[in-house]
Amino acid sequence: MELKRNVKDRWWRSLVHARDDIEGLDAAILMHPKVWEASGHVAGFTDPMVDCRTCKGRFRADKLTDARCPQKPSKVPGEHTACDLTEPRLFNLMFKTFMGPVEDTAAVVYLRPETAQGIYVNYLNVLNSSRQKIPFGIAQVGKAFRNEITPGNFIFRTREFEQMEMQFFVRPGSDMEWFEQWRAIRMQWHHDLGLTPSKLRWHEHGPGELAHYAKAAYDIEYEFPFGWQEIEGIHNRGNFDLGRHQEHSGKKLEYFDPQANERFLPYIVETSAGADRVTLTVMADAYREEEVEGEVRVVLGFHPRIAPIKAAVLPLTKKDGLPEVADALYHDVKRRFPSFYDDGGAIGRRYRRQDEVGTPWCFTIDHDTLTDRTVTVRHRDSMQQERIGLDQVVAWVAAKLEE
Ligand code: GAP
Repeated sequence: MELKRNVKDRWWRSLVHARDDIEGLDAAILMHPKVWEASGHVAGFTDPMVDCRTCKGRFRADKLTDARCPQKPSKVPGEHTACDLTEPRLFNLMFKTFMGPVEDTAAVVYLRPETAQGIYVNYLNVLNSSRQKIPFGIAQVGKAFRNEITPGNFIFRTREFEQMEMQFFVRPGSDMEWFEQWRAIRMQWHHDLGLTPSKLRWHEHGPGELAHYAKAAYDIEYEFPFGWQEIEGIHNRGNFDLGRHQEHSGKKLEYFDPQANERFLPYIVETSAGADRVTLTVMADAYREEEVEGEVRVVLGFHPRIAPIKAAVLPLTKKDGLPEVADALYHDVKRRFPSFYDDGGAIGRRYRRQDEVGTPWCFTIDHDTLTDRTVTVRHRDSMQQERIGLDQVVAWVAAKLEE
């Protein structure tokens, strides 16, 4: 949870706080059902699904190679002699519920399958209540829901997940230039998160792959242990969305450019990342096993800025006044950074436990601390140790996080 929060905070800071041309928004999950008719999701947000008449398994027809036959897991569905797959059928991924006490078709509402539409229907509100001019963006982090046929790979594909989406509104004609800029910015963000660059690549959507709204689209893919998979999409949505909302609502969504004295419907460049998926990527990328003195050391080598626990405080023993000093230090550090206190077991074991959760630094209080007021800092990655002043620990961690 802390790790995902760090991912979301970094995303928000890089887009909303660090830039002047993006506003933040928190739109509704349940919106008027006509929003989803206008967006094309009622008609077109479908996955092809096949059933196996033999084992009753249900699979995505376009992702059969990612699935396993339940009766013969070494084969993909359809390859085993007993498999008897139906023809693909289209299946709408939106979850439905009912608004008000009457459960009839007039009361159907949808749980949003993407956060983007909440931005489009609020775009004029944001434009009119901020000092933004085109080009500008609106960013949002929030839950999305999809009735996935085959959720799996831990939190890679779930039915309820969080998206970090930003919609950038631009003048028609400048859209491809912005599209390229946003591609570069978003790839750099993943590098800055500490992900291994050689495990990141681009996948360009071919004509048959493009979503119903997209004019051009690239995915950022990561090489997971289960193969190359999408973690973020960058889409040139043209004027599809605003055009459809304008048409369905009857409300003009054009922008007036006072300098050029002209009106136009903005084009949209979208960056859309999954918060859970990026969190999984950070964990997969950070995980390593190394042999140290004949034993396997498991390390989550998170970048310190993303690590869920920044520091651990460990009294060497539970006596001689060491716990009191350690406890005071722990509370000092915890006021500034998420920290952990551990006084159980041999110090080597305690270091290993912190390695496994990715804590970059451990501060050990020993008998010398009582006389010279210094502590041992033990570094997760190098396992090296150094001594610093007890009263310098908080400033030391703060400085390290700035590096
Ligand atoms: N607004 C555009 C949009 O939603 P998408 O490619 O369908 O585009 C964007 O989704 C991102 O949302 C994906 O790259 C992925 O990170 C995340 N995502 C999509 N479906 C997901 C699911 N079922 N579970 C977890 N994350 C998901």
